[in-house]
Amino acid sequence: MDISNLAAGQGRTGVAGSKNVAVYNDGGSLIVMDNTCTHMGCQTEWNASAATWDCPCHGSRYHNDGSVMVGPAEAPLRRIKFSIVDGRLEV
Ligand code: FES
Repeated sequence: MDISNLAAGQGRTGVAGSKNVAVYNDGGSLIVMDNTCTHMGCQTEWNASAATWDCPCHGSRYHNDGSVMVGPAEAPLRRIKFSIVDGRLEV
């Protein structure tokens, strides 16, 4: 997954390895998470205007760091270990 042009304060969903990931650039480092909603497994979408991860299935919303903002999800998005190789995210 190419993250070389992911600006500070922005997020992006994509695929890295065999995982659907949600990546947020907090300005100093990247936060890389499994993009699977912890409620029932739908894929979240980046909401650029609110800087949140929103689930289209039942309305859960997560802060940019993956912590829960609005349920029904109760658990945060799961963090994933990663590395950056030539501007690409690898998990
Ligand atoms: S699967 Fe995301 S809110 Fe239900």
